[in-house]
Amino acid sequence: MLLPVILAGGSGTRLWPLSRQAYPKQFLALTDSSLSLLQATLERLKGIDSAPPWLICQEEHRFLAAEQLRQLSLQNASLLLEPEARGTAPAIALTALRACACGDDPLLLVLPADHLIKDETAFHSSLVAALPLAEAGKLVTFGIIPTEPHTGYGYIECGAPLSEGLESESFEVACFREKPDRALAERFICSGKHFWNSGMFLFRASRLVEELSHYHPEIVKHCREALAGESRDLDFIRVSQEAFSHCPDLSIDHALMEPLSQDTNKKAAAAVVPLDAGWSDIGAWSSLWDASEKDEAGNVTQGDVIALDSRNSYFYAQSRLLTTLGVEDLIVVETADAVLVAPKERVQDIRLLVSRMEADA
Ligand code: GDD
Ligand code: MG
Repeated sequence: MLLPVILAGGSGTRLWPLSRQAYPKQFLALTDSSLSLLQATLERLKGIDSAPPWLICQEEHRFLAAEQLRQLSLQNASLLLEPEARGTAPAIALTALRACACGDDPLLLVLPADHLIKDETAFHSSLVAALPLAEAGKLVTFGIIPTEPHTGYGYIECGAPLSEGLESESFEVACFREKPDRALAERFICSGKHFWNSGMFLFRASRLVEELSHYHPEIVKHCREALAGESRDLDFIRVSQEAFSHCPDLSIDHALMEPLSQDTNKKAAAAVVPLDAGWSDIGAWSSLWDASEKDEAGNVTQGDVIALDSRNSYFYAQSRLLTTLGVEDLIVVETADAVLVAPKERVQDIRLLVSRMEADA
């Protein structure tokens, strides 16, 4: 059985001022679509033969998540609540342990809730190619052909082909490196041997638990204890806060994929299946600009905007007329209580702005 697990517990800081702690980006409709990023992720599963999805998010976003599921008539989805965000490794460990405890050790299709995928047919084809590998016990990643030395992604170095004789391609993972610095990312791009890690994974629940137990037994232990305290209230599944709070704050990329790929005994454990499906991670304003339809001047505009002699910019007006004259490569986002103006190349630093506001509050 295939069980989709949607990770929706991130905070989306770099998309401030639209994305807020109380209303993070995965719950926002940031593109031309009326669907939120989370809803687009759920809609992408249509046509895939799978169990009702599990969604894992923070306690404080439970009503947002439940309402967005209801809008898609997905009341049969399970909603797991984390008492606090501890990163994707504990979130995935919780779902994998719980899936094992439910009895049938399904294949987990782990999907972040902050991606856009333009070509859903290609996404489905990559998934079909990945299924036999996951069934054979591999931890499968989906690799994107990189277009620039982006430092916000993981990089997967392709090893030996796994798919000789098969129709679709897949490879061993020679090395996994999470968010390298610029110089290393440039070397990876020049090598021609690397994919970006899409952040989506497919593996058997028990295999994830087995491998994570090897590198981070404490995560597995605390998650097991947290699940022992599981309770259900209406549509919400909660775990023990006390036990879960002992988990280190770690991503699955740092906690498992990197050490696994460096372990000479584990060379055959992971696999990468290429994904060429118009993928983007909506992590920052510049990626939203990249992924959106532009006018002839290269601008993306939303709301009441007049942009004169302005180029290659993202202009978003929520509550007032936004006018610009003679600017380029800017991000301008106007909301009822805050305005952001930043050069496009500095958008990764918006998290510094948010930290500053938190310190001042
Ligand atoms: N439930 C839960 N709990 N979800 C979380 C948590 C958490 O503590 N932290 C993050 N998430 C969710 C986010 O909402 C998002 O959907 C997904 O997990 C990935 O988290 P990001 O914070 O967006 O990760 P990233 O984009 O910096 O990096 C990951 O994705 C890249 C591609 O998009 C890594 O996997 C990279 O290697 C990868 O290249
Ligand atoms: Mg992301």
